[in-house]
Order: sequence, then structure tokens, then C-alpha cells
Amino acid sequence: MIKPHGSDTLNPLLVTDPQQLQALQTEAESLPSLQLNSAAAANAVMLGAGYFNPLDGYMNLADALAVAENLHTVDGLFWPVPVLNLVEDASAIADASRIALRDPNTEGNPVMAIMDVSAIETVSGAQIEMMAQQIFATTDPEHPGVATFTGLGRNLVSGSIQVLSLSYFQADFPDTFRTAGEIRDEIAQRGWNKVVAFQTRNPMHRAHEELCHMAMERLEADGVVVHMLLGKLKQGDIPASVRDDCIRKMVELYFPANSVMVTGYGFDMLYAGPREAVLHAVFRQNMGCTHLIVGRDHAGVGDYYGAFDAQTIFADRVPAGALEIEIFNADHTAFSKKLGRVVMMNEADDHTKDDFILLSGTKVRQMLGDGIAPPPEFSRPEVAQILMDYYQLESA
Ligand code: ADX
Repeated sequence: MIKPHGSDTLNPLLVTDPQQLQALQTEAESLPSLQLNSAAAANAVMLGAGYFNPLDGYMNLADALAVAENLHTVDGLFWPVPVLNLVEDASAIADASRIALRDPNTEGNPVMAIMDVSAIETVSGAQIEMMAQQIFATTDPEHPGVATFTGLGRNLVSGSIQVLSLSYFQADFPDTFRTAGEIRDEIAQRGWNKVVAFQTRNPMHRAHEELCHMAMERLEADGVVVHMLLGKLKQGDIPASVRDDCIRKMVELYFPANSVMVTGYGFDMLYAGPREAVLHAVFRQNMGCTHLIVGRDHAGVGDYYGAFDAQTIFADRVPAGALEIEIFNADHTAFSKKLGRVVMMNEADDHTKDDFILLSGTKVRQMLGDGIAPPPEFSRPEVAQILMDYYQLESA
């Protein structure tokens, strides 16, 4: 099986031995504690679940700046997006060397990790701006990722962590949330060798579905791992449970049995386009996939990124050999009225724009909200029904 990023074996930071866990939980109660923001908690979940292998915790300022600028830590590890614990006020933990990190997303704010603090550094406004520009390719406060990132605080608390819980994800999504190790195990158990990962934060429409079919066929892959984001999204995006229902229905009806694993991960969407695509590749390698589909405007938002910037970054900024996982680049995919099937638009030479069924996300949301199913060429009727039911409940 493909090796994890940066090490021979996966080293998730979640403590699983019951005795050790009990001892750490007891210790945590007497430690100074810090309530994490959602972005830092999401990082703890990814570190705990093995997705951020081989990192052992939160980055310090030197690594954060190096990763933002050069996609490498100071020690030379390839890494595309700083993994940070930025806080507004660090006075409660000022002299502490070992602290408890509390979960902002679970009632009662239980301890989710213990940290050996190696540094608490102040990040300047200029450094925050530089990192935002590098990560998101903009400092526009209207960009949802920039708005979140620049509002996290100026105190960077770095150090290694032991993770005690993966927040609410296992309880809320027992059938879908998986750790990187669990996905590796299931891939091995199924005997799959060539495995395609599909990143998604949406209900899967025909274009998404067809991208998975095309990648499977062209790569002669053994299977697809649909890996949906289960953490926080921007206002107006569709909740994870509804997306999960849509995806499961689509897989059940339109894919051969046992060809798809429906899974998810606990991370908040960054909307960082190209940089996030590279992060996606890192953690899909960690979960044992050999290929990642990257299509049009991957992890994008608004008009901040060129439609295929998330593909070109792999040639431009990822050194040869830095990652083992390969990218399956896909062109804009849409239903061709001429051919009666979904195609990549660059492979349909004799077509004009009018030969395709193209609907904007805004238009689709509007239709669903009005109880109108998008055309079956755009969205499977069974998927559209789940979405219409959701929008109806929303507006009730
Ligand atoms: S994303 O933020 O997770 O990338 P989404 O779930 O919509 O958003 O997309 C999942 C994957 O499908 C991404 O690789 C994206 O580029 C690709 N994709 C979505 N729609 C299309 C399309 N019409 N044509 C080509 N690729 C697409």
C-alpha cells in the first residue's frame, strides 16, 4: 500500500490505549486549560485521526511562515498549509509547559487534547497578512477563509499534542466519519491497490458522479473513496447529514456494488483553492489512496481562483517526489445534449456552450428552494428529492 506522507507507518496522535487515556484524562483536569477555536480544534481532529501525519502537533511561527511561503517546514518537510493554534488571549497559560486543550464544538467543552507547549509567540499583523496572502492568494476580508484566518488571534501556541477525543464526529456521523487508519485498514481488507479519492463538500450531482466513474475507468482503479468534509462550512452550504444522504443514495443506485467507500473527515473548509487541494492530496495519501481527483475550481469560492489553479499548483509548487499520490486532473464536466451523456468539455470538440446543460450553484439552490427539481441531466432525481425535502424543511 502507498506509504503515508513523511514516514513509513501512520502515526495518529489519538491515544487509544484505555489505561493511558484514563490517566491523561485525569491529569488534564489539573492542568491549565485553553479553549480552542474551531479551526484549531479541526486541526486536532486531523492530527488525532492520522490525516496530518507525520506532524506531531501545532507549528511554531518559523514553521508557519516557512510553510506559508515555501510549502516546507524549517526542517524540510513538504507541507502546504500551516497547522496552527492561534489564540486571542494566552494569559491563562502564560507560564505553563503542559496544558489541556478544550473542544469548542462539544457541549461542556471537554478536553480533546493535551499539549506540551514549546512556545507562545506573538504574530504580527504583517505576518498574518503575509500568511493569508500565501495561503488564500488574497487578503480580501470578504473571502470566508481569510475572514476566519485573520480573526483567530495573534498568539501562536505551538507544541506536540496527544489527542484524547475526535470531537463530535464519531458520535454524529458513526457510519461516515473515519480516521485515516480506518480507511487504510478497509482498503487493505478489500484488497484494493489502485484507489481514487474524491474530495467533496457538496451533495454529488451528475458531474461529480461522472468524475468518479471516469477516474475509475481511465485509471483502471479498484475503487473510489468518496471522502466528504464533515466540519464547518460557510453560511448557505448544505449540512453534512443531508449531503451524506444524497451521496449514499447516489452510490446505492448508480455505482456497481462494492466499488465505492462512502466516508468523511472532520475538518473545517478553508476555501483555499490550490493550497487546500495540495493539503487534500497529502491527507488522501495518508489514508491510503493512490490518486486524488482534482476538477474545476477545487476547494474554491467566488472568483478568487482560476478554474484550474488547483491543478497547476501541483506542477508549479510541489517538487517531484514530495508526494507519492497522483492527481487525476479533470476538465469542466457537464451533460452534453448532443451525446446524451456527461463528458469533459475539452473532449467534446464540435460542441458550443449551448450544447451543454450548465447551471450555476446559485440557480440550482434557487430551484431547489422553490421546490423545482433540477433537470435529471444535472442532478439524479433521487438526489434532487432529498435536497428539495431539506430546503422545504429549512423554509418551513
Ligand atoms: S470542493 O470544494 O470540495 O472542491 P465540490 O464538492 O463541488 O467542491 O467538488 C468536488 C470535486 O469535484 C472537486 O475536485 C471539483 O473540482 C470537482 N468538480 C465539481 N464540479 C465539477 C464540474 N462541473 N466539472 C469538473 N470538476 C468538478
